[in-house]
Amino acid sequence: MNEGVAFSKAETCMIMEPRHSNAAGNVHGGELMKIMDTIAGITAFKHAKGNVVTARVDEIVFHKPVHVGDIITCNGQLTYVGNTSMQVMVTLMVHDLENDFDAAVAMTAFFTMVHLVDDKPTKVPPLIPTNEEEEDLYLLGERKYKEIKNRYM
Ligand SMILES: CC(C)(COP(=O)(O)OP(=O)(O)OC[C@H]1O[C@@H](n2cnc3c(N)ncnc32)[C@H](O)[C@@H]1OP(=O)(O)O)[C@@H](O)C(=O)NCCC(=O)NCCS
Repeated sequence: MNEGVAFSKAETCMIMEPRHSNAAGNVHGGELMKIMDTIAGITAFKHAKGNVVTARVDEIVFHKPVHVGDIITCNGQLTYVGNTSMQVMVTLMVHDLENDFDAAVAMTAFFTMVHLVDDKPTKVPPLIPTNEEEEDLYLLGERKYKEIKNRYM
């Protein structure tokens, strides 16, 4: 079935190079946010099956530094879907190459992506959680969606 949380999940893996970093070898936050934005876009595109744009990014947290030479994995998962908008939880992991490739969470964020057809927000399929974890994330996402609507719109 080409729908649902499992179908739309997206993941990428990259090695961090000097072009991603400052002179001290720390990878720029903006580089990591770009990777996360791309993953959020692919996740939402798969669900909408069409063009999406980033409307909002909430709760970006830098949990751990990322350095040149590190391998990172970034994944996106839909948490909640409104009418034309989709909320994507994005996690970026950094792998410890000297310690059996252990992974630690380096960054997390929630992206709101909007499906556009002819430049207009357009309805996306509903999201139906299929297990307890997806259900919990859905309820969390719904709470965030309603809070943003109440507070800012
Ligand atoms: C995102 C955008 C299309 C929304 O357009 P709009 O005319 O405000 O659309 P609407 O008011 O009809 O809202 C459409 C949906 O977006 C959501 N939305 C709009 N602005 C939002 C914001 N700032 N935060 C969270 N959600 C937002 C609405 O809640 C609505 O969701 P729903 O249909 O699921 O309830 C428009 O603001 C835009 O084009 N922004 C620039 C996007 C961009 O350039 N991104 C970077 C490059 S990808």
